[in-house]
Amino acid sequence: MKILAVIGSPRPKGNSTALLNSFLDGARSAGAEVEIIKPHRMKIAPCTGCERCRENDGRCVVKDEFQTAYDMVLASDAIVLATPIYFGSVSAQLKTFIDRLQCFWALHFILKKPMPPGPAGSPTRKGVLLAVSGQNKDEMFVGARIIFKHVMSSLQGERWAELCAPGFDLPGDILKSPETLQKAYELGRRLALGLSAESE
Ligand SMILES: Cc1cc2nc3c(=O)[nH]c(=O)nc-3n(C[C@H](O)[C@H](O)[C@H](O)COP(=O)(O)O)c2cc1C
Repeated sequence: MKILAVIGSPRPKGNSTALLNSFLDGARSAGAEVEIIKPHRMKIAPCTGCERCRENDGRCVVKDEFQTAYDMVLASDAIVLATPIYFGSVSAQLKTFIDRLQCFWALHFILKKPMPPGPAGSPTRKGVLLAVSGQNKDEMFVGARIIFKHVMSSLQGERWAELCAPGFDLPGDILKSPETLQKAYELGRRLALGLSAESE
């Protein structure tokens, strides 16, 4: 299985990155291959709404580093979005990347074409949301969960799992919660093994 992970936090030692790293360690331990995208380090412009993807077979016409990301989406079997919660939403860095997925929305809903299959053969990519908030309130994740739902619908994929970790504010705070990191590790392992997200 090939997993594409997208890191929404610009903090190198941030909590969502730590959560993602545990998830990916678990996935690798079960044989998954992993590719990582860091939108904050890439030249990815915001979507301009030109809608030319509708005339371009569902491919964005803007020639920037999103083109590489587009190919990486197609070359994956599963997509993991890891994000800090910023004002009740995903980070702007991640949202900029997500808005450029509008070309996949056009492929699905305007052109009515199927998503090409991933390397393992399935066109239905599995999606995972990993999110961390500073405040210890589950309501902080409402926005990110809805955005994740729309992303996976546009990718003609499946919302396989959501792991939302509230109450970790300063960089590295989440390292004080080995049980949260273990949950992420186990989730990654289960994804790579083709199991359901919920352990029986
Ligand atoms: C611009 C900004 C907005 C934030 N908004 C929220 C928020 O709405 N709710 C919340 O609980 N925490 C909020 N936080 C706190 C972050 O979610 C928290 O620090 C988190 O651990 C950051 O994850 P990271 O270390 O992966 O970057 C915000 C932090 C920043 C910098």
